Amino acid sequence: MSASAIILMLLLTSSPQGDLTDIPCSRCHTPNAWTPLDPVRSFNHTRDTLFPLTGRHTEADCIQCHPGETAEETHAFAKARPECGNCHMDIHMNQMGSECDRCHNTNDWDMSRWTRNHSQTVLPLDGMHASLECRDCHGINFDRLVGQLSTDCVVCHEQQFNAAQLATDHPDNQMCRFCHNSRAWVPIDMSLHDSGFFPIYTGSHRGTWSTCTAECHIDPTNYQIFSCGLNGLCHEHDKSSMDSKHSGEVSNYVYNSARCYDCHPDGRGGD
Ligand code: HEC
Ligand code: HEC
Ligand code: HEC
Ligand code: HEC
Ligand code: HEC
Ligand code: HEC
Ligand code: HEC
Ligand code: HEC
Repeated sequence: MSASAIILMLLLTSSPQGDLTDIPCSRCHTPNAWTPLDPVRSFNHTRDTLFPLTGRHTEADCIQCHPGETAEETHAFAKARPECGNCHMDIHMNQMGSECDRCHNTNDWDMSRWTRNHSQTVLPLDGMHASLECRDCHGINFDRLVGQLSTDCVVCHEQQFNAAQLATDHPDNQMCRFCHNSRAWVPIDMSLHDSGFFPIYTGSHRGTWSTCTAECHIDPTNYQIFSCGLNGLCHEHDKSSMDSKHSGEVSNYVYNSARCYDCHPDGRGGD
């Protein structure tokens, strides 16, 4: 044992041990020497403190996070603050806010393997988006990040939309996600139709139609316009039987698609 350690021990034994820490010395130290710490110590940071050591933090030395010149300072463990920015330099100079762990974890700062949080918070990287590089959307060096990108399909896919409109009788409707998914533009994916517009795959209209434009979207260039199968297109909705279904009991009834939808937004009889 070195001379300075002996002096320290003398100093320590002359003052109550509780001055350094309330945790029993033997949970970290061996009876033989103060350093190195007991390799099989019973103190367990992840279990015994509010700051679990994860990722690269498991490799760091105590004094890197609990620094100090004197024994009193190194044992003032509660002084350490858990916010990443207290120990790591903010290379973004506060442009990304102080919640570093929204984007980073303790394994490494590199963002190229970051996909999990993306799904939780923003545009899920599924379909064709899964195989893209970050820079395909965010630019080289992440020039475009928070507040500079939209999750709205049309903002990134306006060119395809314009081209589709020129080449085909594509509907003039920019809510792409109601008709497309991120796997491919065709075939179209209408699985949000029931929740977004009107139930056609569930409920009483399931199986009652043939194509998008035959009974309902009679003007293929404008999907805002729809027919409730009136005008003989749908036998069950013919005028005489509808008039008699609603006569007397229903005021304000008119034989008109927009009015049918006003009273039956979910396509059910009595709603
Ligand atoms: C939670 C773990 C922990 C407990 C409990 C603990 N220590 Fe320590 N102790 C440390 C760490 C960490 C260091 C710094 C090790 C290093 O320098 O690498 C240290 C270092 C020391 C040193 C050497 C200081 C120096 O500057 O070289 C002394 C002396 C010491 N501890 C005394 C005590 C005493 C006495 C107790 C009981 C009151 C105690 N320690 C309890 C973790 C602990
Ligand atoms: C990567 C940084 C880091 C490392 C490495 C680290 N700690 Fe901590 N430790 C912290 C932070 C941050 C806290 C504060 C947690 C809180 O209170 O929110 C803490 C809390 C503690 C506490 C509880 C303090 C209290 O009273 O609340 C003890 C004891 C402690 N650390 C001991 C150690 C020892 C011993 C080691 C080495 C074996 C160590 N720490 C390694 C960051 C670290
Ligand atoms: C109390 C101080 C402290 C806090 C708080 C802290 N770290 Fe660390 N971190 C360290 C130390 C010390 C190292 C080891 C550095 C070394 O070995 O050079 C480290 C290493 C890392 C590394 C490995 C790469 C590197 O820079 O060496 C990453 C990544 C990291 N920390 C992320 C985080 C994140 C994310 C947070 C917030 C959730 C955080 N840290 C909070 C002290 C801290
Ligand atoms: C909104 C997300 C976001 C937040 C919040 C954020 N960062 Fe970053 N960080 C990034 C991105 C994206 C990069 C990659 C930049 C690049 O490659 O040009 C990065 C890169 C880094 C790097 C360098 C990585 C390397 O490979 O050199 C460090 C260090 C870093 N961030 C630290 C922090 C710290 C510290 C905080 C909190 C104060 C923080 N970041 C908050 C998104 C974020
Ligand atoms: C298909 C396009 C696309 C790809 C590919 C993409 N992102 Fe994003 N990312 C977005 C959009 C859109 C946002 C939302 C921006 C906003 O809300 O301001 C976003 C947001 C983020 C944010 C901010 C998250 C937050 O909570 O504020 C980070 C960080 C990020 N992306 C990192 C990445 C990384 C790293 C990659 C590569 C692994 C990647 N992104 C790939 C489109 C993409
Ligand atoms: C932040 C920009 C961004 C957003 C938002 C975005 N995408 Fe993409 N998407 C891309 C990029 C970049 C590509 C790859 C290059 C390309 O094909 O244009 C891509 C590719 C695609 C592809 C494959 C294209 C092909 O030719 O095979 C489809 C399909 C697609 N996206 C659908 C969507 C849908 C649907 C949405 C809305 C839910 C959406 N995207 C939102 C950037 C975006
Ligand atoms: C109301 C439904 C609907 C909406 C909303 C919609 N599309 Fe389409 N889209 C279609 C239909 C229907 C087709 C033709 C499918 C087929 O040919 O089988 C199509 C085809 C396409 C094609 C392929 C065209 C070709 O070359 O054959 C692209 C690209 C496309 N849409 C892009 C978009 C984009 C981008 C948006 C949003 C800005 C969008 N669509 C919104 C229904 C829609
Ligand atoms: C002013 C509101 C209103 C309008 C407009 C309206 N309905 Fe109705 N509809 C009702 C009500 C209320 C009932 C329930 C009457 C009953 O149960 O006796 C009903 C009943 C029905 C039923 C019978 C359901 C069953 O279970 O037998 C059908 C089918 C129907 N409506 C279709 C239509 C169609 C198609 C249109 C447009 C031509 C239309 N409705 C317009 C309010 C309306």
